[in-house]
Amino acid sequence: MAYKILVLRGDGIGPEVVGEALQVLKLVVRDAPVDLEFKDAPIGGHALDQFGTSLPETTLALAKDSDAILMGAVGGPKWDNPQASDRPERGLLALRKELGLFANLRPVKSVKELLAASPLKPEIVNGVDLVVIRELTGGIYYGKPSEQRQGPGGREAVDTCLYTEAEIERVLRYGFELAQTRRKRLTSVDKANVMSSSRLWREVATRLSAEFKDVHFENQLVDSMAMHLIRRPRDFDVIVAENMFGDILTDEASVLVGSMGLLPSASLGEEVNSAGFRIGLYEPIHGSAPDIAGRDEANPLAAILSAAMLLEHSLGMRAEAEQIQAAVEAVIRDGHRTRDLGGAGPRAVGCKAMGRLVRDHLENLMQAE
Ligand code: IPM
Ligand code: MG
Repeated sequence: MAYKILVLRGDGIGPEVVGEALQVLKLVVRDAPVDLEFKDAPIGGHALDQFGTSLPETTLALAKDSDAILMGAVGGPKWDNPQASDRPERGLLALRKELGLFANLRPVKSVKELLAASPLKPEIVNGVDLVVIRELTGGIYYGKPSEQRQGPGGREAVDTCLYTEAEIERVLRYGFELAQTRRKRLTSVDKANVMSSSRLWREVATRLSAEFKDVHFENQLVDSMAMHLIRRPRDFDVIVAENMFGDILTDEASVLVGSMGLLPSASLGEEVNSAGFRIGLYEPIHGSAPDIAGRDEANPLAAILSAAMLLEHSLGMRAEAEQIQAAVEAVIRDGHRTRDLGGAGPRAVGCKAMGRLVRDHLENLMQAE
């Protein structure tokens, strides 16, 4: 079988971390009966510089023609002009929308050897194993109007949070089905005490919960959820939230495992690829970190784990995905740390060295088979 993988390295540390993830992907399929065909395309800030748009038509066309997409990160201070009509982030948002990737999975699992990397007490974070499903193609990220304008009392700005019942239902349904394969708990997050869109969200979630009687269900308001997430994170299994609440809660959740540099994500839609699985966009949840770009300091593990999610969710290669995860865990167990994980002085490991360590472990695992 041959699968088409589109590679969007992006800006900042994107190219560095994706470079390591790609080498891991190539290695893990070495002995498998599949051929991965990689193609590169521009997105984000450097696409803006070179082609005058953050999402060139050719990139979008290649994305639509791929079985899966591996991305780094976009953005940077160079493109931060608030008056600009196009921004690196717009390219990413347009790509998610155009591909219909409504369910963004962000797993958060604590690693015993890294408990000290979290500012929270080890007894709170030990054993955390949850997944946030963030709705990704609706809500305040896409609602219209969204603009600055001249109002009666001077300049004003507006954003719109809009959800259709169907959009809410499909992402929650995905969440309930996922919960059935896990610890059978689902927490739906909203702000139903203030927002209309959240009241519809809560109504749909509660109605749907009757279809999934085997799943323990609860509604939580987003503000108290932010508190429960760091007070008693072990109590959660599947958390489903609208676009912006999910964006905020997952940055918070990264503190549970010690670093954003560890958290991968998968964005899935309804469309199925040539492998018979969902087409997906796989990216770390971290940003482009322009302050450390090009210095070989970034943590490639989130990108490497995103590649593992790609194998599992878009290509159905679960065994290979688990081998990558095992290799990452082994490297951490051996005490190797990038700077974000507290690696300091001569013991700190750079991006390239971390990638190499993961591949070395992977080779051993593959040979032991
Ligand atoms: C994320 C990021 C993006 C988002 C930015 C870069 C547009 O924060 O993927 O979490 O807000 O979705
Ligand atoms: Mg974010």
